[in-house]
Amino acid sequence: MYGIVNKAIQGLVIENFGLDSWEKIKKQSGVSVDGFLSNEPYPDQTTFDLAIAASEILKIELKDVLISFGEYWVLKTGQESYGALMKAGGENLKSFLINLPNFHSRVMLIYPNLTPPEFKISNIEENSLDVHYFSTRNGLHYFMYGLLQGLGKMYKVETKIEVKALKTDGAYNDIFRVSWS
Ligand code: HEM
Repeated sequence: MYGIVNKAIQGLVIENFGLDSWEKIKKQSGVSVDGFLSNEPYPDQTTFDLAIAASEILKIELKDVLISFGEYWVLKTGQESYGALMKAGGENLKSFLINLPNFHSRVMLIYPNLTPPEFKISNIEENSLDVHYFSTRNGLHYFMYGLLQGLGKMYKVETKIEVKALKTDGAYNDIFRVSWS
């Protein structure tokens, strides 16, 4: 994945736990890169190794590391570094989610070699809808859960996320039901 992802993990750790913790996590992960370059691709395993090492060093379940990372990605990386792109995504949570299937095609203008996730939206009601998440990668559904939670916070609406189906439980893809007030 592009270095921006690893840089965001670094930012999340340093802002919340300090530089020492980040150094320990890097050592534990065996990742020897000093500074990640946002627009350079790195092996996916580097990202996974950093998340696993963060879970071990900070003694936080991997699931919760991924959820926090998803929130941070929206609220910090997204809003602070790609504000215009996030704003163009929609004027409220519902329209952002309905537009989500097209979102990474705009991200690809910045990161042309992206291997983006894919999304499908269904069962659209007044205050809820289903987000179907398709990825070539495994194990990122809690990152996705955190992203959805982060979007709820970005739009300042009370949001509930239900996991309706998981690839790890044998489903074809992950499905989240998102409801808001
Ligand atoms: C400005 C905002 C965003 C940017 C710049 C961005 C960019 C990226 C980048 C660079 C990757 C790594 C993929 C690669 O390098 O091949 C990625 C992955 C991913 N993005 Fe985004 N993204 C943004 C917003 C979102 C939002 C709002 C969602 C969903 C709500 C999302 C869902 C994901 C997921 C789930 C992945 C993991 C990769 C996978 O599932 O295979 N992203 N994104």
